[in-house]
Amino acid sequence: DHPAHHDGDGHDPRRRDFINIAAVAWAGVGAGVIVLPLINQMNPSADVLALSTTEIDISKIEPGQSIKSTFRKQPLFVRNLTPKEIAEADAVAISDLRDPQSLEERTKAGKKNWLITLGVCTHLGCVPLGAGEGENKGPFGGYFCPCHGSAYDTAGRIRQGPAPTNLVVPEYAFTSDTVVTVG
Ligand code: FES
Repeated sequence: DHPAHHDGDGHDPRRRDFINIAAVAWAGVGAGVIVLPLINQMNPSADVLALSTTEIDISKIEPGQSIKSTFRKQPLFVRNLTPKEIAEADAVAISDLRDPQSLEERTKAGKKNWLITLGVCTHLGCVPLGAGEGENKGPFGGYFCPCHGSAYDTAGRIRQGPAPTNLVVPEYAFTSDTVVTVG
């Protein structure tokens, strides 16, 4: 017996490493074959998602209320502004805004009270808190992002904090008196 040439289990250590690597590689291939079809089923193709629309029943959203829905896998806010909130938004000098846009430009003609935006902070994508969500209504009465303190006004326009732009208004239309179709 020669201890210096004994590797413990009688095999060449380099060959054993190769066998272990091969076993891990096979396990990886096996898992991939099983997991990929599941992922494909869970995610509709990008094309289908890009064309999808969301219908929202707005008949139960009272003035001053904001509801959260989902549009193309993103949070969506639908808000029924009070006359006071509309007046607040209109009182702001557009030229003072970081992302200058009037409430008029962000809503449909004759339906200035319906503010529809993605619920995605334009800083790093957190979901801002809306009216009625406690202390976090924010200093401008609109939405407040708890992640880094971006505050949006009642027109969803950025007024304070790191977010560079207003909450995004997606394409939408009033398809009846009580239904908004987004997308
Ligand atoms: Fe909203 Fe940073 S993600 S302030």
